[in-house]
Amino acid sequence: MAERISVPRGTYDILPDISYKWQYVINVFRKIADLYSFSEIVTPIFENARLFERTVGETSDIIEKEMYKFTDKKGRVFALRPEGTAPVVRSFVENNLDRSGNINKLYYLGPMFRYDRPQKGRYRQFYQYGIELIGSDHPYSDAEVISLAVAFIQKLGLKNYRLEINSIGCVNCSPLYDEQLKEYFGRYEQDLCGDCRRRMITNPKRLLDCKNESCRRIAETAPSILDFLDEECRTAFELVKEYLEIMKIKFVVNPRIIRGLDYYNKTAFEIVTDSLGAQNALLGGGRYNTLIKELGGNDLPAIGFAGGFERLLAVMEKENLSFGKIPAPFIYLVALGDNAAKFALKLGAELRYNDISVEFDIEKTSLKAQMKSADRLNADYSLIIGDEELAKQTVTLKKMANGSQQVVDIENLICFIKTRQPACQL
Ligand code: HAM
Repeated sequence: MAERISVPRGTYDILPDISYKWQYVINVFRKIADLYSFSEIVTPIFENARLFERTVGETSDIIEKEMYKFTDKKGRVFALRPEGTAPVVRSFVENNLDRSGNINKLYYLGPMFRYDRPQKGRYRQFYQYGIELIGSDHPYSDAEVISLAVAFIQKLGLKNYRLEINSIGCVNCSPLYDEQLKEYFGRYEQDLCGDCRRRMITNPKRLLDCKNESCRRIAETAPSILDFLDEECRTAFELVKEYLEIMKIKFVVNPRIIRGLDYYNKTAFEIVTDSLGAQNALLGGGRYNTLIKELGGNDLPAIGFAGGFERLLAVMEKENLSFGKIPAPFIYLVALGDNAAKFALKLGAELRYNDISVEFDIEKTSLKAQMKSADRLNADYSLIIGDEELAKQTVTLKKMANGSQQVVDIENLICFIKTRQPACQL
């Protein structure tokens, strides 16, 4: 008996009418990464679960609730990666990439996994693009990474977005701030949600981005981290802002950005949109100056960000932005008769060898059916091959947009298609 099996909850298929849009956005990201001299790094989809437990933080949502953890046949505990930064740093340390002594600029693309309640813009398998710049604590690096994020969003044509930045301090100033937060939120303990009551002790900054209505109201008047930054963090943050201004990048300072992962310090930032409802973060990132050392590497500072493709695509659809040319064959071969069909096989191969995209359906035999197909597939040209034309060693090239036709010698066909120069006909 047949059994229908559906896609797992919180995941989805990328079908052909959407996949070209993904390709477009991925290509734009690769191009921008290239413009900023970032190189691609690819790491496995699963890692030792400890990698994330140590770095992302025991009190984060990801570790507390969302990790796809499993034990393999030898009893080893792995996790489907919930994010890309820890794996990149693991690989960076393991492969001694810090030996080069230069700033390392890496980017990655791929699926991440979080067992969260699915909703619009939030999936259990989602695709991230990410950037990691390792080896510099200079505020210029912060500005460069942020400017890359903005350049990407702008290149896609998005208008309705906002860059929000903050500094969440360092080991020197952050504990002082935590104490203040504990004291502040302690006054409202009765009105906090269960998660927040627990986190007030373990990680009070997390209370600043709780989505619960009552917690949110209380958080609105909480002390600001910016009043607690030490001299170094304050100076660095001022420079980041100055550099962004020099680069004419608009931003707002939002002291409530604290990010949901534990490895951050100093600069934190997000690009948010009003077009998406609750899941409004298009991308997010920040500095993580201690992570590389914590994972056994040298004491190297770093900064990066990641964003989800799903949200980007949703906003682009909503804002009616272009995804480039819809893929369509350049040439649709129309063969009239058996000989012509056999010739079409040969010609099709030759055209494709010459990087000209071709579609041919040997099962369609009438002129009408083939022309209809060419039209439906949005081919640029139909190329008509008939017995009579074969005898003369010519074919007819018809521009689908306006119906104009031209008889072309087969000998010169490829040159003609590629250059559209009548000189090929001589
Ligand atoms: P994150 O804020 O956890 O940071 O995720 C970054 C982005 O991934 C979010 O802004 C959102 O666009 C997308 N995202 C996250 N979860 C989901 C989901 N369940 N469904 C759809 N999209 C989602 C990180 O992952 C850090 N590793 C970023 C980073 C890189 N920091 C430094 N370097």
